[in-house]
Order: sequence, then structure tokens, then C-alpha cells
Amino acid sequence: MIGAVAHRPSGTDASSRTRGAPGRPDDRRILAPGVVIDGATKRFGAKTALDDVSLTIEPGSFLVLLGPSGSGKTTLLRCLAGIERLSAGRIAIGDRLVADGERHHVAPERRDLSMVFQDYALWPHLTAEQNIAFAIARLRLPKSEAARRSRELLGRVGLAGLGERFPNELSGGEQQRVSLARALAAGTGLLLFDEPLSNLDAGLREGLRVEIATLAREAAATSIYITHDQAEAFALADRIGVLHGGRLVQLGTPEDVYLRPVSAFVAQFTGLAGALRASTEGPTGPNQVRVRLDAVDAHAVAVAPAARDAAAGTPGRLMLRHAAVRLAPPSESGIVARIADTAFRGRGYDHAVELPWGDRLVGIHDERRWSRGDTVCLSLDPAACFFFPDDPPPHGAESRSAAVSPAPDRPWPGPQAS
Ligand SMILES: Nc1ncnc2c1ncn2[C@@H]1O[C@H](COP(=O)(O)OP(=O)(O)OP(=O)(O)O)[C@@H](O)[C@H]1O
Ligand SMILES: [Mg+2]
Repeated sequence: MIGAVAHRPSGTDASSRTRGAPGRPDDRRILAPGVVIDGATKRFGAKTALDDVSLTIEPGSFLVLLGPSGSGKTTLLRCLAGIERLSAGRIAIGDRLVADGERHHVAPERRDLSMVFQDYALWPHLTAEQNIAFAIARLRLPKSEAARRSRELLGRVGLAGLGERFPNELSGGEQQRVSLARALAAGTGLLLFDEPLSNLDAGLREGLRVEIATLAREAAATSIYITHDQAEAFALADRIGVLHGGRLVQLGTPEDVYLRPVSAFVAQFTGLAGALRASTEGPTGPNQVRVRLDAVDAHAVAVAPAARDAAAGTPGRLMLRHAAVRLAPPSESGIVARIADTAFRGRGYDHAVELPWGDRLVGIHDERRWSRGDTVCLSLDPAACFFFPDDPPPHGAESRSAAVSPAPDRPWPGPQAS
């Protein structure tokens, strides 16, 4: 499969153009289109893989779509790229309507975008430099300029001198760098990434993540990046969209999603020390409730986006971010627990603690090392505790939350020949 599905469009909207960043290796203009997705739905037989997804992506911004396996991430990216046809809904890239239900579908190579795949998708019979040159060829640059640009890009992804190697002579990390260079070489304003780091080991992942973040922003491109790794999402995104069962359930900045998850699912999926059974006692602020733990005579205050008006005694779960829990010596007040595990993390220690009734909390950081078997007291920071009642919201309530911005109510561009 060709990684870069790109060409220069014949007609473009001047208002969606962003000038290339100063210091770019050439002075060509980069097109950074906004993307509008409205009611995107994709069915495979009886299976609805994407369910009425609407969102707007600002030109030049970096959106990460985060969700568990099977939540529809790849399906959404493939619909954006034009590899899949929508069953219903619309997609506009810049000023072009590229998909309108099953009626209208612009082919991938006419959408002016590039894709970086999880499995690199390099041409095995072409060298690294030829793989990049292949994408550049579509720009119809003079040969010498194409070669110069190929080498320049290889240098920028840290592969200077390796241009003559074939993909099977490169490591996974090096192949993914070639794939990144190829996507940038195509000069498209829209970059799509499908879990590009998930086949790489932890050390390489962090290095390449920084390069993707830097190079995509230097190129002034609009980027859409999918992952199931919440740490990667928080590190990369201007905005994060969380997918669950084919629906977009929250859209916001990393801080929004971390500090104000709209549902128990989002809280759980974006990282918790653990969850404790509890029930409400009453409101303590506009968005806060006091809860009583079921297992022990202890109370906590928590952010409660879905339980503001809940009657006292409503059962649910108190969900704790790692940063919510502080460890203290047993003489102080708080919930008594026992240290079950201690892991050295360089900048301090992560602890697992066991509560007397059997629940476990993990990933609790402290600069000090507590020993296995130590008795400690836990204190909880209300800003990083969330209470969600047990009763699930009616179907779709998550995605109707104010945190999800719908596609704007504006005139849509007319269809273009596909
Ligand atoms: N061609 C297809 N035919 C039938 N079902 C499909 C097809 N493609 C995807 N699906 C189903 O649609 C759902 C969403 O799949 P998708 O590949 O988009 O998930 P994902 O979020 O990318 O998951 P992962 O993290 O595992 O890559 C899954 O239940 C999957 O089985
Ligand atoms: Mg996928």
C-alpha cells in the first residue's frame, strides 16, 4: 500500500492556507486544511464501527483520537483517507466535500493527504531515498530538487547517510522514520497517523514521538493521530477525542480530558490509581459532591460531572487519578493501607497499596521509598477524584455532553467529481 496518498489539488481555498514555517528547507506553501466531520457513520453488515461522529479540526492543529481496541479509530481514519466509504454523514477537508454518505466519495489520491501506518508500508524494492522520492515525484519538482529534498528529509528524521538502504536493511524505528519523511515529503497539508509507534520499543517510541510532534508542527500541517495509548495522546495532542464503541464521547484539550472526564469510561481509560465503591452524601460545590466509602467509615470530596443533582445515597464509584493519592505515616488521619509494592522510577518511587477490604491502588508516586508491608495513611486530593453513579447514562448521553463540540452549522461545500 502506498503510504503517501497525495497530490497537489488544482483548486484550493486561499483562506485555508498556512504559510510554511520560517526556515523550512524550501519556500513552497503548505496547505493546512481544517477538517469537518458531520455525523460520520460506518457500518460493516450488522456491525456499526462508527456511530454518528461529529467533530471539527482546526487548520494546523494536532488532534489525537484515543480509544480502546475496536472503538473505531482506524475506521474513522480510513474514512478520512477515503480508503473506506461512509455509510452516512459527511466529511469536508478544507473547502472540499470529500464524502457525503454513500452518494459521494472522493478517491484517496485526490484528498491531498499523507498517511503514516503502524506497519510502515514502505515499498520493499525501493531504497529509503527512493521511497521518499516516490512521494516527491507527485509534486513534479525538477530531479535535482527532488533528490535534494529527499536527502534533506532523511537528514531531518535522523537518517542521513542511510538513503541507499532497502527497508529490510533498516530497523523498525528507522523504517518508521523513512515513512515519516515520505509523508512530509509529499507536501500535503493533512497528515494522518495510525498508531505509528506501537511496533517500536519504549526508548524509540519516546524519541520518535518528539520528532513527529516537532516535524508535524514545523510543517504547519493539520495532523490526526490515532492511538490506544493515553500517555502518547496526552503528550502529543492539542486536542484529544476519545472514542468508545464507535462514538466520540469526549473532545477537549489534554487538560480537559484529564481533569474533567465526562464519564467513568473516559476516567478509566485515561489512567487511574483505582476505583472505590462509594455513595453520595450531598453537594459541596457546583460540580463537587461529598461521598462516603462503602467499605470503611471514611469520606472524600470528588468532582462529580454526572452526579451534581444525584439524591443522597446514590451508589457509584470514586475514581482516583494517580496524582489524587498522597501517602503519609500512619499517625496522620486518612484511610489506612499497606504498601504492597514499591518500584524505583528514577524520579522517585511508584507504590501499589492494598486497602484492608482488598481493593488495590497502583502507581502512587512519592519521592520517598516506602517498603513493602509498611502501614500508611492515604489522603485524597478532591481535584483528582471523580465520582460517577452506577446508573449508566441513556445511550449516547456521553456524546451529547457539552464537552463534545458538534460540527458547525454552516453551509457545506458542494460535491466534487470523485
Ligand atoms: N472490514 C471490516 N469488516 C467488518 N468489521 C470491521 C471491518 N473493519 C473494522 N471492523 C470492525 O469495526 C470495529 C472497529 O474497528 P477499528 O479497526 O476501527 O478499531 P480500532 O479502534 O482501530 O481498534 P485497534 O486499536 O484494535 O486497531 C471493530 O469491531 C472491527 O471488528
Ligand atoms: Mg486500529
